[in-house]
Amino acid sequence: MTTIASIGTGNMGTALIKGILDAEPSIEVRATTYSASSAQRLAAALPTATVTSVEDNPEANRDAVASADFVFLGVKPWMMAETLRELAPALSPETVLVSMAAGVSAADLARLAPGSPIVRIMPNTPSSIGHGVIALAPAPGVDPTATATLRGLLSGAGLVVPLAESEIPAMTGISGSGVAYFFLLAEAMIAAGVTLGLTEETAKAMVVATADGAGRLLAENPDPAALRQAVSSKGGTTLAALSTFIDGGIFDLTEAAVTAAADRSVDMEQENSAAIDG
Ligand SMILES: NC(=O)c1ccc[n+]([C@@H]2O[C@H](COP(=O)([O-])OP(=O)(O)OC[C@H]3O[C@@H](n4cnc5c(N)ncnc54)[C@H](OP(=O)(O)O)[C@@H]3O)[C@@H](O)[C@H]2O)c1
Repeated sequence: MTTIASIGTGNMGTALIKGILDAEPSIEVRATTYSASSAQRLAAALPTATVTSVEDNPEANRDAVASADFVFLGVKPWMMAETLRELAPALSPETVLVSMAAGVSAADLARLAPGSPIVRIMPNTPSSIGHGVIALAPAPGVDPTATATLRGLLSGAGLVVPLAESEIPAMTGISGSGVAYFFLLAEAMIAAGVTLGLTEETAKAMVVATADGAGRLLAENPDPAALRQAVSSKGGTTLAALSTFIDGGIFDLTEAAVTAAADRSVDMEQENSAAIDG
């Protein structure tokens, strides 16, 4: 049976493991957190996993990784060095390290855990309901069978897209961080609905259902320009709104936002690399 140790199981780690377990309940998962209170919440979210906290057991992380097939690293990027230095003596050489950290390069991970096979992934939060997007970038030398197994596991959490590590910043810009852009638009639409006289409750219900419907249509027909044009009659209401967005610079603004996220991801790699050196 495949065993996953999930070290640092917060928002993203929980989302991924939940997606994986929903699809494959027989996977053995050992999940850790720092605090006992987080572990208690996690145990409720992942009832079939073995959950331990470092607060209760200082050996929790090392115990969890012992002979695991995959170690998912879900601590914050700036904690990666400390965490890997702690884990390194307890890792079997064939255990694959799977880092979900934004801004920690495979080269730096390899410096921290010499000899371990390393895969970088970049997930997003809808992974918790099986609708995530997960970029998968194995470092050279990772056993293709292990990569294929990992890909199969992650597919329970959503669409797995194999990428080169150099493409991760762009992926982060449109997908890792991208979920939040749709939430921001939803927030703005609800606020606009309230300004035009709807109650917040009504506006929220309508925007949520509209986002759901638009997402489903797009999944069926992945051509956003065609879908938009199909609802934009000349002189009509939708075109009035879309022209306002387009004339207001939505394409340039979106490109700037995505570039800011991608650039931040590259900056974080440099900052984290310098911190590891330091
Ligand atoms: N959130 C996203 O949308 C997203 C998207 C892509 C990638 N990521 C990446 O996912 C990683 C986690 O982000 P997150 O948002 O999930 O953070 P988070 O919710 O703060 O989760 C961090 C987890 O690490 C645990 N932890 C802290 N110190 C630990 C230790 N010494 N040993 C074991 N566990 C420890 C925390 O436990 P306590 O709760 O007890 O402190 C918590 O469970 C980051 O590297 C981030 O770059 C996140």
